[in-house]
Amino acid sequence: EQIIFKETLPSTQPEAHQLAQQGAPAGTIVICEEQTSGRGRMQREWKSQKGKGIWMSVILRPNVPPYEAPQFTLVAAVAIAKAIEEVADIRPEIKWPNDLLIDGLKITGILTELQADPDRVNALIMGIGINVNHETDDFPEDIRDIATSLKLQTGKEIDRAKLIARILLHLENYSNMYVESGFQPIKKEWENYSCTIGQQIKVSTINEVFYGKAVAITNDGVLKVQLPDGETRSVYSADIEI
Ligand code: BTN
Repeated sequence: EQIIFKETLPSTQPEAHQLAQQGAPAGTIVICEEQTSGRGRMQREWKSQKGKGIWMSVILRPNVPPYEAPQFTLVAAVAIAKAIEEVADIRPEIKWPNDLLIDGLKITGILTELQADPDRVNALIMGIGINVNHETDDFPEDIRDIATSLKLQTGKEIDRAKLIARILLHLENYSNMYVESGFQPIKKEWENYSCTIGQQIKVSTINEVFYGKAVAITNDGVLKVQLPDGETRSVYSADIEI
């Protein structure tokens, strides 16, 4: 295990990809104080203000087939939610698949990328961005009504090192649990944090947009959405709006 800390990086993701390619062991972490071109899912920009948040990429090497990679986003969401709850004493909600919200506002985004052969994962690069000690002014105006920080929500400055340590501990435990026994033992905790199940949602996949009710998460971590005509769809990867 190795922690690579840099003051400024364009993004921790490509740095971690490169290390993984070169054989860096599971548990290797790239972390920085500021990202100048942080990125989110769907090629979106991810604002990463200096010293305010946790901007890191963690290399995992689980022995799973590539189609199981998306489940690690769910696993990481539970690990981070639990760490936030312990350190900041506030309970985030998980919005399927990769967002943590407090009071409906985004506190954390997770970007899971993989390096894989056809039948097995070589490395998962888990990009984790957490808004920790931002004041309102630290957020660009156009995201002030959708984003928040732990400090804004709790009124307290949060110790980032402590939070990172708890995240890494839980991430290791839950991903081992997943590799050994699948999503099922983690499902209950995921459901307890979830704000998605039971809601009417808008689902946007690469191919289509549809509306329905999120009725369940399966033992494999697949979202079940019931359409107005009663048909149920399995959703593996999408953006949703509640
Ligand atoms: C999302 O919600 O779309 C995912 C956001 C992921 C942001 C993190 S910050 C650390 C890592 N480096 C990046 O450029 N992105 C991820």
